[in-house]
Amino acid sequence: MADQPRIPKPTARRLSLYLRELESLLEQGKSTINSTGLGAALDLTDAQVRKDLATFGQFGRPGVGYDITALRAELRRIMGTDRQWNVVVVGAGNIGTAVTRYPRFGDRGFRVVAVFDADPAVVGNTVAGHQVLPVSDIQSRLPGMNISLAIIAVPAEGAQQVADMLVAAGISGILNFAPVYLSVPGGVAVSSVDLARSLEQLAFEISADLA
Ligand code: NAI
Repeated sequence: MADQPRIPKPTARRLSLYLRELESLLEQGKSTINSTGLGAALDLTDAQVRKDLATFGQFGRPGVGYDITALRAELRRIMGTDRQWNVVVVGAGNIGTAVTRYPRFGDRGFRVVAVFDADPAVVGNTVAGHQVLPVSDIQSRLPGMNISLAIIAVPAEGAQQVADMLVAAGISGILNFAPVYLSVPGGVAVSSVDLARSLEQLAFEISADLA
């Protein structure tokens, strides 16, 4: 977005955390929160919260704090989640099926609109109301469906080929579950989910505490 300041990556990552916390506060019936409260909930200092949010303008009011509804709307606008993003899922196995069935992505602006798989035994099945389509149809089906985000949930060995097909079909953001580095052209964003790495990190932190 041309009229927006460049957001440092660590700040961008924290925006999702702020957003999730603001959603939770609204659900609890709260209407304002100050930087100390928001920081405490996320294990951040109040100075960090103020600095992050000041990147986008003056939201808070001294002595009152942030209006939660207004701040949530602004963060959603900044993150692009104030609009709906159509998402395609490739790989209708354990992960792909669970993601497609998860009902709350819709609340956050993400809607799975198509599911693809390579296995003839899986193609044609219905997952959360979507008929699984053959992966060979990506090229012919995706353009025109207004989809810019994809989730790859196929085994590692097929992931790069799937990524190439998705990029060729106009996808510009990929959430990758496969445990493999994906090479994509500039302008295409990849975010990888790695539960094993997160568990390793936890194990390391616990071991470090014990040492
Ligand atoms: P799964 O075996 O249950 O499902 C994979 C699906 O992909 C199958 O339906 C298969 O037919 C389909 N498939 C295979 N090659 C394909 C291709 N070229 N194009 C389209 N579809 C294709 O596997 P699961 O358990 O759902 O795992 C999916 C991926 O996620 C794997 O790479 C796995 O290693 C990874 N994984 C990642 C985790 C993480 O933390 N990121 C955690 C667990 C799994």
